[in-house]
Amino acid sequence: MSEPMAAASLLVRLRGWFKAAPAPVTAQSYLAHHYGSVPGFSSLFSAEVAAALLAAQRQAGIIGHVGEIGVLMGRSFIGLALAAGPDDLCLAIDDFTWPEHVQGVFIENCRKYGVAMDRLVTIAANTTTLTASDILARLDGGRLRYLHVDGGHQAAVLRHDLGLARAVLAPGGIICLDDMLHAQYPELGAAVQAELAADPELAVFCVVDRADLIAAAKYLICGRGYAEAYKSALRAAFPACVFPEPAEFAAAPALILSKDAALVPAYRDLIEPPKP
Ligand SMILES: C[S@@+](CC[C@H](N)C(=O)[O-])C[C@H]1O[C@@H](n2cnc3c(N)ncnc32)[C@H](O)[C@@H]1O
Repeated sequence: MSEPMAAASLLVRLRGWFKAAPAPVTAQSYLAHHYGSVPGFSSLFSAEVAAALLAAQRQAGIIGHVGEIGVLMGRSFIGLALAAGPDDLCLAIDDFTWPEHVQGVFIENCRKYGVAMDRLVTIAANTTTLTASDILARLDGGRLRYLHVDGGHQAAVLRHDLGLARAVLAPGGIICLDDMLHAQYPELGAAVQAELAADPELAVFCVVDRADLIAAAKYLICGRGYAEAYKSALRAAFPACVFPEPAEFAAAPALILSKDAALVPAYRDLIEPPKP
């Protein structure tokens, strides 16, 4: 083969190699391109909000691991794990009882979308059989700075899970509660109100509006002293989604974020008419 032909053939082979190496999946690319491919229930918007909060925590120096109760096939968990820091453990808890073989599907999805498998900590159990010590024992002496609670949807189970969450949370950590204003689960909100009333240290700082009946609203909860900083971070990250009125929790008003493109500007115009 002549020298120019050999060079050309090498070039073609090099191009082939570079094409063959897919770009690593990041939190941003997972949310933009793959979130809807993983069967599950949480809204894309709530996953975007979680990623923004993890970034705000990093900036504020709030440290800890991330986790989810009720990972199912990994839809929201993978976004959380990809948005976590390089040293953070990613805790996945689920009873993995439905559908059949779901734990294998979860692990396969984590691998497929680039979750660091050496930082994945899986607890396959019903949470009502777990204590906070069982969870802390798996966290290398650390605590959680973000926990998405999306497991059992009965009031008693949620109360138990909220108790676990409070006991394993890092200072400045966030608890995200799923399906708070869901037509199918009317008792969950009341259970949370009772828990919050018993612990005035905790505050709901944001209600992430529902995307539809299934991808229902989430409450974001943190220590009262951190609430204003988290609200400011979310106002800055999602300016077009800030509902102009607060959620009227008696203890302190919470921010409402909504992706409803028609509702937020229309309501804003209604209460703050645009200047002529
Ligand atoms: C609504 S799905 C979670 C959806 C998931 N977070 C997503 O966004 O795709 C609830 C999951 O929690 C699990 N689960 C329900 N009760 C549980 C319990 N008490 N302990 C552990 N897992 C539980 C279910 O098996 C199911 O996988």
